[in-house]
Amino acid sequence: MDYTVLENTETHSYDSLKEEFSLAVLLGFSNDRKWLPSKFFYDDEGSRLFAKITDVEEYYPTKCEQEIFETNGSKIVSLIGDAKTNIIELGAGDGRKTKILLSEMFKQKKDFEYQPIDISTDAIVGLSSALEKEFPNLKHHGVVAQYIPGLNWLTQKNEGRNFILFLGSNIGNFHTPDAIVFLRTLWNSMNDGDLLMIGFDLKKEIDVLLHAYNDSQGVTSAFNLNILTRINNQLGGHFEISNFRHFGTYNPHLGSMESYLISMTDQTVRIDALEKDFHFAPFEPIHLEFSYKYLNREIKSLADETGFEIVSSFKDSKNYFVDSIWRAKKN
Ligand code: AVJ
Repeated sequence: MDYTVLENTETHSYDSLKEEFSLAVLLGFSNDRKWLPSKFFYDDEGSRLFAKITDVEEYYPTKCEQEIFETNGSKIVSLIGDAKTNIIELGAGDGRKTKILLSEMFKQKKDFEYQPIDISTDAIVGLSSALEKEFPNLKHHGVVAQYIPGLNWLTQKNEGRNFILFLGSNIGNFHTPDAIVFLRTLWNSMNDGDLLMIGFDLKKEIDVLLHAYNDSQGVTSAFNLNILTRINNQLGGHFEISNFRHFGTYNPHLGSMESYLISMTDQTVRIDALEKDFHFAPFEPIHLEFSYKYLNREIKSLADETGFEIVSSFKDSKNYFVDSIWRAKKN
């Protein structure tokens, strides 16, 4: 099993992800509108719960993207040239959709290596061992890291072309200005002509969205509540999980799904690592996540504004989701 765990100290001013988490909780809970950054969903348990979300019937994005790959995998891979290619995936998770592309890469006899990056060690270890079974001849090297540090670590040592995958509409977690900075950061680490494939969830009938983020089996609810369990486990929090409920709603002004946890009682919760008590009023929300939905022209302007040219775009049969392939333009 071949993978690397990047230490936070190599890349951040924090000593550890745990320290970064505790400061994020302090910041978010000290605000009069309480919030937490959505990247902290993905501890090992959170990554497991997200994989479970992708199996629930109402959560369509993964299924749509899988259909896109199954239908267009050979076209996508034929856009990649014959030079040695490093397929770098940001937030690979269980790599379910990517496996379709990997087998197409073998079919078209490409010279390539797969380099998944994920913030969860279990996700990378699980993915590596699954890949070893399914593709014994695959060259792969996983990286446990946050997106940009992981990407920079890889691109500094890689030889050949980089093909970056940013799937699943993970970009939807960013507000537009942050998405622009993020895409420009990707552009900075790319060479002229390198490709980026990026998944966008499209604007659609709002009921479809509401069901996808409030599934009937309660998996999304468990996924959101797990962030409180993470505070309990990692930071010595004293949350009574059953005193909170999940609330998922669509903000039409932003064009974004939003997830909250709502305090169902008047409660004060101690967090030992912060040596502080936090008060939650009845029905007080904690904001957890934005999941932006896009129009085609919004996708086009993101590409234009950050130095990319759209090479090709692939949609599923319902027109719910698009995977767009962008080329970095330099000079
Ligand atoms: C992994 C960020 C793409 O926003 O749809 C799923 C996370 N949150 N259900 C999304 C998520 C609630 C997901 N992303």
